Amino acid sequence: MSRKTERIGGFWDALEKPIIALAPMADVTDAAFRRIIAKHGKPDVMFTQFVSCDGLESSGREALLCDLLYSEAERPIVAQFFGAKPENFKKCAERARRLRFDGFDINMGCPDRNIEKQGAGAALMKNPNLAKEIIRAAKEGAGNMPVSVKIRIGYNKNEIETWFPAILEEEIAAITVHGRTRKEMSKVSAHWDVIARAKELAKGTKTLIIGNGDVYGVEDALEKAEKYGVDGVMLGRGIFGNPWLFANLASAKGDRHAPHPPLSISDRLHAMVEHTQTFERVLGGVKNFSIMKKHYKAYVNGFPGALELRASLMEANSAGEVAEKIDDFLRKKDIL
Ligand SMILES: Cc1cc2nc3c(=O)[nH]c(=O)nc-3n(C[C@H](O)[C@H](O)[C@H](O)COP(=O)(O)O)c2cc1C
Repeated sequence: MSRKTERIGGFWDALEKPIIALAPMADVTDAAFRRIIAKHGKPDVMFTQFVSCDGLESSGREALLCDLLYSEAERPIVAQFFGAKPENFKKCAERARRLRFDGFDINMGCPDRNIEKQGAGAALMKNPNLAKEIIRAAKEGAGNMPVSVKIRIGYNKNEIETWFPAILEEEIAAITVHGRTRKEMSKVSAHWDVIARAKELAKGTKTLIIGNGDVYGVEDALEKAEKYGVDGVMLGRGIFGNPWLFANLASAKGDRHAPHPPLSISDRLHAMVEHTQTFERVLGGVKNFSIMKKHYKAYVNGFPGALELRASLMEANSAGEVAEKIDDFLRKKDIL
């Protein structure tokens, strides 16, 4: 293998295809939740939530470093960044390398107005020259660490025939294609036919194409990979309240119909307590407890008493209180 190939693919080349990835999701797939996911069922690769390059290269750095925490159990782990200044991407890539991340990912799909105002996220789809410059700067800082990009299929319309080939020219390890335009936000179903076209356009390059959008289970991910010919599939919202999402990944790769481990209400609630304790231990000093509470809606639903339990959990302000409420609930329901 030539040195150049090594540099492009890095750890990505060692992954068995189709690659099943956990999506970066701000204030969801943080260091605490990823530890729980790694324990209950690990995907082939995980991403951190995005981190501001400008913030990381400013005096406000300290507050952002918690978003770059990870544990060895999460490897391979890719750090994701957003921004619009090539020089800061170079510095962040150097930093990610020093922090021993396995990969460096650039967000070019976020529709958040505050991020777009900076010329970052999805706004980069309107500025291909800057997008390319950013990739080159990141590669310079990344050394042998592979660089990847996460995009949407276009800004106002499908731009897979125009914008996407420009990004492909930069010879990056992987491109995750979220199958919706910026304008579509998350309001329509992901266009998997366009994702398949992206893979066709990438033929003859070394860049892996990971499809993303509306996939809620490993079986569906494997089916989509086969049907649309992509190298991998990334799952996002399917992880809400379900750290077991990838638990049958290894067996499903051998047999599509491998059963998912059966889960009881008690399993779910105990995982939620463990998640909360991990959040408090890893991020407690720096992140507001309200971030953790957002998960409760997903964990606590679909069983008798869920509504009341959720309301009661909204009053809690520590992992200890949450554990007490859950013990109490399970004891009363006699399902401990
Ligand atoms: C709460 C939330 C936070 C997100 N944060 C990020 C992020 O930090 N970086 C990113 O590239 N995409 C982010 N996304 C987009 C997801 O990575 C993914 O592309 C999108 O949810 C579509 O995949 P899904 O249909 O499997 O959820 C976020 C999505 C959600 C719902």
